[in-house]
Amino acid sequence: MKTIESKTSNHTLALGKKIGNNISKGLSIALIGELGAGKTTFVQGLAKGLGVSKKYYITSPTFNIINEYPAKKFTLCHLDLYRLGSVDELEFIGFDDLIDDNNIIVVEWPQILNDISFQFDIEINFKFDEQYNRIISVFAYGQGGSNLVSRLFS
Ligand SMILES: Nc1ncnc2c1ncn2[C@@H]1O[C@H](COP(=O)(O)OP(=O)(O)O)[C@@H](O)[C@H]1O
Ligand SMILES: [Mg+2]
Repeated sequence: MKTIESKTSNHTLALGKKIGNNISKGLSIALIGELGAGKTTFVQGLAKGLGVSKKYYITSPTFNIINEYPAKKFTLCHLDLYRLGSVDELEFIGFDDLIDDNNIIVVEWPQILNDISFQFDIEINFKFDEQYNRIISVFAYGQGGSNLVSRLFS
């Protein structure tokens, strides 16, 4: 586990960019934290690192649940499951088909996926401290996630 204190949105963007820059194979990332904690800001940086065109402005896909952006080597699949009523609805968005070596899957409000025991490669927690800085904790699971996190943060 690696903990980072982010004092500005640029710092959170840079963290996302660093991870995006270093991803070499399909990966899934869970983003956990309250509204305004910086999840979407992180995805904006991740997109930059993956080479998503600047013409896309990334916002939480709260109503459409998923947005996909072509990146240099991958497709960035950005999900927001806040409004998902049940995991059954995942079928409509074709969640299973997203799991692919060509896709980087990043999910805001991923908790409902616990119901299907979906295991992310990386989990990132965003918390506020008293000064409203963000305390960002990065957890890695499995080989893919551990390789990346140890390479970036050792
Ligand atoms: N250190 C920080 N990291 C991320 N966002 C920050 C930070 N400091 C201030 N902010 C601001 O907080 C807001 C975070 O919003 P957003 O990334 O959409 O959060 P979420 O997707 O978690 O709801 C943005 O307006 C951003 O500019
Ligand atoms: Mg968001």
